[in-house]
Amino acid sequence: MRKHRPAVFLDRDGTLIEDVGVLAHPEDIHLFAGTISALRQLQEKYLLFVITNQPGVAGGSITADQVAGVNKCLDEMLSLEGIRIKDWYVCPHAREDECCCIKPNPFFLLQAAKDYDLDLHRSFMVGDHPHDVLTGDPVGTFGLYLLTGHGQKHLGELSPERIVFHTISDAAAWIIDHPDREVDLHNAIRTGADAIRRGGLVAFPTETVYGLGADALNPKAVARIFEAKKRPLHDPLIIHVSNKQQVPSLVLTLPREAEVLMEHFWPGSLTLVLPKSPQVPDIVTAGNSTVAIRMPANPWALELIRLAMTPIAAPSANRFGCTSPTTAQHVKDHLNGHYEILIDGGACRVGVESTVLSLIGNSQVLLRPGGVTQQDIEALIGPVQNGCVGKTKGNKFASPGMMPKHYAPNTLLIVAENIDGYSTRSDVGAISFGSSLCSFQGPVECLSRDGDLKEAASNLYRVMRTLDGMGLSLIIAQSVPNIGLGVTINDRLNKAASRSPSQFSPKGIHCHR
Ligand code: TXA
Ligand code: MG
Repeated sequence: MRKHRPAVFLDRDGTLIEDVGVLAHPEDIHLFAGTISALRQLQEKYLLFVITNQPGVAGGSITADQVAGVNKCLDEMLSLEGIRIKDWYVCPHAREDECCCIKPNPFFLLQAAKDYDLDLHRSFMVGDHPHDVLTGDPVGTFGLYLLTGHGQKHLGELSPERIVFHTISDAAAWIIDHPDREVDLHNAIRTGADAIRRGGLVAFPTETVYGLGADALNPKAVARIFEAKKRPLHDPLIIHVSNKQQVPSLVLTLPREAEVLMEHFWPGSLTLVLPKSPQVPDIVTAGNSTVAIRMPANPWALELIRLAMTPIAAPSANRFGCTSPTTAQHVKDHLNGHYEILIDGGACRVGVESTVLSLIGNSQVLLRPGGVTQQDIEALIGPVQNGCVGKTKGNKFASPGMMPKHYAPNTLLIVAENIDGYSTRSDVGAISFGSSLCSFQGPVECLSRDGDLKEAASNLYRVMRTLDGMGLSLIIAQSVPNIGLGVTINDRLNKAASRSPSQFSPKGIHCHR
C-alpha cells in the first residue's frame, strides 16, 4: 500500500513571485530571491502544489488562458532548476460568486489529497494573505504566513499565534525543522519551561525581539544570562510575566497609572519600571531599587512563562551592544551554544524592543522609546517626561538602554537625511525608506517601500544584519519621519551609529563595548 505523503501548498502571487496586481504576461514574473533554494529544500520531503486565487478572471481584467500561460511559464522556469510542482490549482471566481474553491475554502487541498494520496495533517500551506493561512485550518494543514507580497499590509488581521516569516527561505527552514508542526513547537516550549525551572537559559520569541530567558527568581540562573551575553552587571533585566496577577509580588507598590497602562497595553510592548519588592534578586535589577516588568504579546512566550511557573528575566538574545535578534537564526548567529534550547517562533512582528517607562515616585519618564509610542501612553496617563537623552547624576544612565552606543552592527554605520552623496560607492550599503534608490551602486535594503513605519520597524534589525554581513566599508542609513514608531527607529539607528571608525572590527562578533 502507498504511504500518504505530506505536501506543501504554496500561494503564487506575493509568495513565490512578486505580486504585480494582474499578472497577464510571463515577462512580468519576478521570482523572489530564495524561492528556488527554498523549494529545492522542501521537495526533498514534501510534494509541492500551487494554489492561487485569480479573481481578475471573473472581473474581466485577465483571461483564464493568460493565467494558464503564466503558470506554464513559471512551471518551466522552476523545472529548469529541477523543481517539480505536482499540480497547479486556480480559482477564477470573484469572492461575490461564493464559489467553493476560493481560499480560505480548503477545496483544492482536499482535491489534491484525493488526487495524490496526501496526508493533510502533516502538510503546510504557505502564503502572504491571512486567507492562505486559514485555508488549511478545516482540514488540519498548518498555515505559515509570509511578510512578502501583501503580508505586511494584512498582518493586523492575523491572529497572534500564527507564525510569520520575512522570506520563503525562512519558512522552508522552519518546516524542515518542525515536521510535526505545532506539536514540535509545544514540545520545544515544554522542554524550555523545564530548562527554566532547572536554572537553565532558554532563547524564545516575543513580539518585539527574541529574548534570552532565565528564572527571574533564581540569581544563579540570571547570572548565566550576563555571562552568555557578555553584558555588564550594571545593566538590569526586564522581568516577563504571563499574567497581571504576577506583578504585585514583584513590586512594592503599584501606582494607579501602572494599572491603567497594564490594562490597556498588556500583553504588549510596554515595560514598566516600578519600585522593586525584596523577592526580586538584586542581580536582576543591577542593585537598583526598581524593577522593569512586561507581559509580552507573543502567545508562545506566554505559554513558556506559564509552564515555567515563574517569571522570566530576559534581555534581547544577542551579544551585548549588538543588533537585536528578530529571527531564531539571528539568535544562533550570536549565541549558539549558550542556551539549553532555542524556541523558533518565526519572525518577531514588531521588530524593535519594548518601550521602557519609569513610574517611580510621582514621575512618568520614558526611558527607551519602543513598540508603544509616547503619544499612546500620554493619551492614557497624561504628559510623560522624556528621559531618553543625557545622563542622570553620577554618570549613570537611568536606563542602560539609554547609553548612546547600542544595537550596533560591526560595520560602521552613519545616519543622514540625504544618502545620495554615497551613490557611486559600491563598498557602501544603504538603508533606505520609501521610494527606491535606483541610482545607488552598492547594496540597498529598504525598510518599507510604502513608507509604512510598522513595516520599517519589523525590518530594521534584519536589514542591519544583512548589510553587516556583506563586508562593506560603511552602511549609510536614511532617517525616517520622527513620528510614532519613527521615533523608535531613529533612536535605534542613531545608537547603532554612535561608534567611531577606530572601533570598527571587520570580522566576527565584536560589538560589546
Ligand atoms: O522588547 C524587549 O524589551 C526585549 C524583549 C526580550 O522583551 N527585551 C529587551 O531587554 O530589550 P534588554 O535587556 O535588551 O533591554 C532592557 C532595557 C535596558 O535598557 C535596561 O537598562 C532597561 O530595560 N531596564 C531594565 N531594568 C530597569 C530598571 N530597573 N530601571 C531602568 N531601566 C531598566
Ligand atoms: Mg499572495
